[in-house]
Amino acid sequence: MATYDLILRNGTVATAADTMQCDVGIAGGRITALAARIDGTAAQEIDVSGKLVLPGGVDAHCHLDQPMPNGLCMADDFESGTRAAACGGTTTVIPFAAQQKGQSLMAAVDDYHARAAGKAMIDYAFHLIVSDPSETVLREELPQLIRQGYTSFKIYMTYDDLKLNDCEVLEVLALARREGALTMIHAENSDCIAWLTEQLERAGHTAPRHHAQSRPQAVEREATHRAISMAELVDVPVLIVHVSGAEAIEQIRWARARGLRIYAETCPQYLYLTEDDLGGPGYEGAKCVCSPPPRDAANQQVVWNALAEGLFSVFSSDHAPFRYDDPAGKKPGGKAVPFRYIPNGIPGIETRLPLLFSGGVNGGRISLNRFVALTATDPARCYGLYPRKGTIAIGADADIAIWDAGREVRISNAILHHNVDYTPYEGLTVRGWPVLTLSRGVVVARDGQPEPRVGHGQFLACGTPEPVAAVAPAY
Ligand code: URP
Ligand code: ZN
Ligand code: ZN
Repeated sequence: MATYDLILRNGTVATAADTMQCDVGIAGGRITALAARIDGTAAQEIDVSGKLVLPGGVDAHCHLDQPMPNGLCMADDFESGTRAAACGGTTTVIPFAAQQKGQSLMAAVDDYHARAAGKAMIDYAFHLIVSDPSETVLREELPQLIRQGYTSFKIYMTYDDLKLNDCEVLEVLALARREGALTMIHAENSDCIAWLTEQLERAGHTAPRHHAQSRPQAVEREATHRAISMAELVDVPVLIVHVSGAEAIEQIRWARARGLRIYAETCPQYLYLTEDDLGGPGYEGAKCVCSPPPRDAANQQVVWNALAEGLFSVFSSDHAPFRYDDPAGKKPGGKAVPFRYIPNGIPGIETRLPLLFSGGVNGGRISLNRFVALTATDPARCYGLYPRKGTIAIGADADIAIWDAGREVRISNAILHHNVDYTPYEGLTVRGWPVLTLSRGVVVARDGQPEPRVGHGQFLACGTPEPVAAVAPAY
């Protein structure tokens, strides 16, 4: 008779394709049986009747302990970041090993491994951030790193310390094509932002809310179109990250209709926040300063529709954690500063899944299977982790989140586990919450609380990216 470490009994198992009533047998950290009734003995059985058994989330865009310039510091390292992720039903994170201009990419990766070692509660892979595509980087370091399992990298069209010019973008895209890697693009027009910021400052408009005016949709739309055009010239797939609203979506839809392999990601902030949230009392709006900025209610609706339609492949948190009341965070040097100096980014690693589940699945906007696709299966495919991660199947890692689809939770920072002193979603009530999270069969969070599993998480080398979208390019 087969033996298991754990059997999950009587749950409703959902994958990106199917929903079924079945038991899940786990041995050696992997799923080894799926059956209406598993016969066999187990060291432990958990009755999950009435609960959903979903693949643990894959958060394919989050920033943890990323080195920052100018005395700034991210609030979450691999310990607190993965602790919060696990409590929110996520079992794999892919943060960024970021190259500083002039730095060796290998050195950036080594440094990032040192930051992660022994700290993570759940498994992790690395994207790279390529900010300096020198000859050495393009000819030697990137090809070598891709072969070692760093098969995706982000490039920026804005931010002075990170941005590439169009020639450099083309060089990176050509390399991605040669080596079978996937390029993620932050698409905003840098010069337009600089010019608009200058105009706003001259008029004395330096409060946080003006951040949104310095980066209107045209700024994102133009860069998205340019990124698409460069990908077309090189004939390579790209993934546009953190798409915020209707105008960038229109470009992506246009590209898909032309048969171009343009993939896209969006994030909770574009469903739940608006630019009005940047205009909170006093300096509070700094809490919601991120780029691209949240838009308005009409754009939120367009993002929801694009999620339902299958235009997006990936739903990530873009967790970029800065403490509000902190000289190394949203108040650089301890002061309320003009918006151009506010570090961009908001926390959301723990709330990503409940927000999409509540508004999407319970809100009747997306199916449960689409939820799984967006939050686990398709990110795992896009970044070369499937089928080890992102699904419930025989042989897959037993990375599982058990959900109570009816549990109502009022989000407040007091119940979250990141190291940030606020959440942008304070006071929002959601329905549906993960009640048990397993990483390779080991319980890492239970009833919204972490289990002490620091160091359980392992580094994952990524395979060849296989970007997918429910709405495929029209050839
Ligand atoms: O404002 C944001 N999104 N900050 C995080 C860094 C990035 O560009 O993703
Ligand atoms: Zn970005
Ligand atoms: Zn980001």
